[in-house]
Amino acid sequence: MQKLLFTLGRNPKLSMLELASSLQAEKTGFQILDFSEKAALLELPEGIKASELVKKLAGTVKIAQILVEAESKGNDFSELEKKLSGIDFAQDLGKKFYYTINDYSREKNEELEQFLLGCFKQRFKEERLKAMLKWPKQVQGERKESIAPKLLAKRLGKEHLDLSVLEHEGKVLLAKTVAASNPLELAERDYKRPVVKPELITSARLARILVNLAGLERGKKILDPFCGIGSILQEAMLTGHEAVGIEANRENASACEKNLSWCRKKFNLASGFKIYNQDSRRLSGFLKGEKIEAVVSEPYLGPFLRKLPSEKRARGIIAELSELYEKVFAELGKILGKGSKVVFLMPQIQTMEGKKVGVREEVFKKQGFKAYNALEKQMPNAIPVSYKDKENRIERMVYVLVRE
Ligand SMILES: C[S@@+](CC[C@H](N)C(=O)[O-])C[C@H]1O[C@@H](n2cnc3c(N)ncnc32)[C@H](O)[C@@H]1O
Repeated sequence: MQKLLFTLGRNPKLSMLELASSLQAEKTGFQILDFSEKAALLELPEGIKASELVKKLAGTVKIAQILVEAESKGNDFSELEKKLSGIDFAQDLGKKFYYTINDYSREKNEELEQFLLGCFKQRFKEERLKAMLKWPKQVQGERKESIAPKLLAKRLGKEHLDLSVLEHEGKVLLAKTVAASNPLELAERDYKRPVVKPELITSARLARILVNLAGLERGKKILDPFCGIGSILQEAMLTGHEAVGIEANRENASACEKNLSWCRKKFNLASGFKIYNQDSRRLSGFLKGEKIEAVVSEPYLGPFLRKLPSEKRARGIIAELSELYEKVFAELGKILGKGSKVVFLMPQIQTMEGKKVGVREEVFKKQGFKAYNALEKQMPNAIPVSYKDKENRIERMVYVLVRE
């Protein structure tokens, strides 16, 4: 077994669920030893490759391997010092490199940080290495990562040593980052496609997380009943699934086909796709021959709101959307087998009176779906997960559901 430390993205709850669902799908035995808003410590079988995992998971920033575990009695770090001295941290790096030390403990331990800083400084000096420390920037009382993910992905292992420290159950754990996600790869899938519609798209990052939340093993068929220009289906294909989409708007449906053909060619994928230019409120009629194993979708979320609406207007929008979603859930109930997952986003609108108006759970419950939480024990009542980003003013509620 090996212990790995996962640095979580902006939405730690979603990242944790994505991680658990993906590992469960691949039938990888794992144990969550600890997790916080910033990082998760997991025990996993030896064969698991961090570089492959980090490529698959869009909610994980980087993965570090625990190299040292030492008892910490108060601020006596002698055991840690002894264990550290037996490890060649600069292996694979040249004579000149950058390094960072991140602290993922729940409570900051100044003494431990100072000890580690002194220890590595002295050591690299003795080894005649030109190691330059990058220290995390302080941003309004909060610490920012010491190196931008883009840069880390480029430099890791060649000119950058990224270390992390975590205090866990009376021990100090020291980890070395072995894989980092590359935000440029995601950006390419967002903006280098033949057709890009910023006002419409689900980001590649969110799309990948949603697909992973479905927890499907490779080679299954995923349906997006509101597929737009295909962001979710693209991620489904990239993770080894067959893609089926429904899009009512003809122009979007054809853009979706263009984008998915591009994706298939560019990434040399074996997975295929089929797009129906139809209304998903009637999907059981035209999807008869398709054996759909999971549904992943960011549906139509209502009109673009320039300013906060009144409560009356918000209730009107939500009522209309609820009617649409309920019809689609009724249709999905007809084509999905028991145990099939549906990952579905629904809006929650903030009103000018300071209220929040959202879709009621009856919309899916009446049609035989219930919330599914891959981490019921560790994070009870985690579903729905709220998702808000800079670009989008609407709060989106992420539901993972299962057909009863
Ligand atoms: C939020 S967008 C989906 C974005 C998509 N995930 C992407 O990244 O391109 C919702 C899409 O649903 C489509 N739509 C709305 N009502 C529909 C319906 N009843 N049946 C099928 N598609 C519908 C809209 O035309 C729009 O393209």
